[in-house]
Amino acid sequence: MTTRFEGKTAIVTGASRGIGLAIAQRLVADGARVVITARKQEALDAAVVALGGPEKAIAVAGRADDSEHQAQTVARAIETFGSADLLVNNTGINPVFGPLMTVDIAAARKIVDVNVLAALAWVQEVHKAWQAQHGGAIVNVASVGGIKPAPGIAMYGASKAMLIHLTEELAVELGPNIRVNAVAPAVVKTRFAGALYEGREDEVASAYPLKRLGVPEDIGAVVAFLLSSDAGWITGQTVVIDGGITLTGGV
Ligand SMILES: NC(=O)c1ccc[n+]([C@@H]2O[C@H](COP(=O)([O-])OP(=O)(O)OC[C@H]3O[C@@H](n4cnc5c(N)ncnc54)[C@H](OP(=O)(O)O)[C@@H]3O)[C@@H](O)[C@H]2O)c1
Repeated sequence: MTTRFEGKTAIVTGASRGIGLAIAQRLVADGARVVITARKQEALDAAVVALGGPEKAIAVAGRADDSEHQAQTVARAIETFGSADLLVNNTGINPVFGPLMTVDIAAARKIVDVNVLAALAWVQEVHKAWQAQHGGAIVNVASVGGIKPAPGIAMYGASKAMLIHLTEELAVELGPNIRVNAVAPAVVKTRFAGALYEGREDEVASAYPLKRLGVPEDIGAVVAFLLSSDAGWITGQTVVIDGGITLTGGV
């Protein structure tokens, strides 16, 4: 890998497994120190070991939409590694399946709280504590469900559409020293997406022009690019990472 993030500290939320962990792994491989979050301490501890131990990574347990947890995590990043240059808002939830006409409004509100408002709060916290003065880069993990309707997960898709628009607004507001971009993956093989492909992976993958589902490393590589100086003239964009599926009319 490279040394492109040497001396940089990244905060990656929801990173004890899946896409968040793969992003953290790629950033460490490229020289960064990382601060990872998730709710469960045990899985975080295992992830820190996988990332190379406390020289490379520390973990702070908490809910992504808890403001005390956000402030504590950013403070720990600066105390431990000296900066908070890079932020990846990766946490996302989808507790509701089914038509919008029967969606539980309290659950819909929770989706917006975690997938959108918490992401904004993390940006505010990192901005206040570090990036306003020193600059930096941010990536929000959205979804192809935020680009095209995906019946059954409509409220999740609407929240990701809002996250994509928020990315654009933040990019305008935070330039020139802070870049803000997003990624929009299709189905990536993680626990979160298991119900979409488990037991029928070949059938699901056959609809994709690239004839396979995504793996977390596919997302880690693109997020690392967007955070790096190679993407120094890109802001406010959403990179679709989908094996070509949206070209076929699917999501
Ligand atoms: N997999 C896909 O096909 C796919 C496609 C498009 C977009 N995405 C997006 O990618 C992101 C990551 O998804 P994934 O597939 O990697 O999921 P995953 O494998 O289930 O991992 C989710 C991670 O987030 C943590 N987490 C969940 N809820 C949290 C909360 N409320 N506060 C803090 N941490 C929380 C989990 O740990 P704890 O359970 O211990 O908290 C875990 O570390 C999400 O934003 C998702 O919407 C996924």
